[in-house]
Amino acid sequence: MSEPAVGSQAEEKHFFDEKQKELGWAVPPESDDQPRFAAFVHYDWLQDTGQLIPRVSHVVLAVTDLDRSEAWYRDFFGLDVVGRDLTGEDKPHSVLRTNSGELVILVQRDTVAPMHAMGVHHAFTMTPNQYRRMLDRAKAKSHEMGVFRADFLAPGEYGLNFEDPDGHGVELDTTTIEADQNVPPGVGVVDCGPVDRFALGDVRVSNEGNFFLVRLAEGFLAMTRRCTHMNGVLTYDKDHWRFFCPYHHACFDRRGDPLGGQPALDALRLNPVTLSADGHVLVNTDEIIPREFFDPSQAVSWGSGARGQGPVGRTTSSLTSNP
Ligand code: FES
Repeated sequence: MSEPAVGSQAEEKHFFDEKQKELGWAVPPESDDQPRFAAFVHYDWLQDTGQLIPRVSHVVLAVTDLDRSEAWYRDFFGLDVVGRDLTGEDKPHSVLRTNSGELVILVQRDTVAPMHAMGVHHAFTMTPNQYRRMLDRAKAKSHEMGVFRADFLAPGEYGLNFEDPDGHGVELDTTTIEADQNVPPGVGVVDCGPVDRFALGDVRVSNEGNFFLVRLAEGFLAMTRRCTHMNGVLTYDKDHWRFFCPYHHACFDRRGDPLGGQPALDALRLNPVTLSADGHVLVNTDEIIPREFFDPSQAVSWGSGARGQGPVGRTTSSLTSNP
């Protein structure tokens, strides 16, 4: 007797909007580096803490056509086939493996309820090059896909959502160098104007230079707008005197120290500030200085001796107070 169908693929199918479709085809730069946020990257660290499950052993999926699904996960998805009927499952099944050792077990059933009907899906992390190859295969097959998190992808973060032959939701993710490193904006030294343009407590933003300039009691501080979590572009939340990252909700105070939203973040990275002989605040966007936390010696004032650059070679930036 066949099992009752819990849902139908036609009823439950997700349709992507235009932005989700467009971003789904974004191609990451070439790299074989493993993404920063894959479970296997954190494995050693997790072993030491003893607090979390370090990795997933296997995922079991019900499929209506074992040959078709095995071929799809092997040829399209790129998994290695380990073999048939190798586990205690009482139905015919195929065991496949990711290159980091997790198993995907496809079990033959008469009917299947697509998982995404309940918002359930499985996400797999790849290297950028694996992700690029997957995109090529998806193009060749004209696969319908997009990215659900189109509004929440940080720079250097790529993601794709689509369905397998039985309508199970699948997500692919990768992160590239932009997620880890702060790439200079290419505008060199930015002239922010005369020192007396800035009142104590002022926060201004340079869109060209991609930094915040803050005048603290200790002096001037220029901080890149890239979040120290995954380089999301920060905004200044004037009402709460803090910098806010819309990607995963990290917050930083006006000295750049983390306030929460994500655990264990470093303070915002600095661009060196100098005060020129003609009394202008200059910010060198070519140099990016990581730091763990704010220290008063990082701020630049007339008394701190950080002066000297003449008027040559500067980019003039019209700073705004309301980024
Ligand atoms: S990029 Fe994740 S919180 Fe900013």
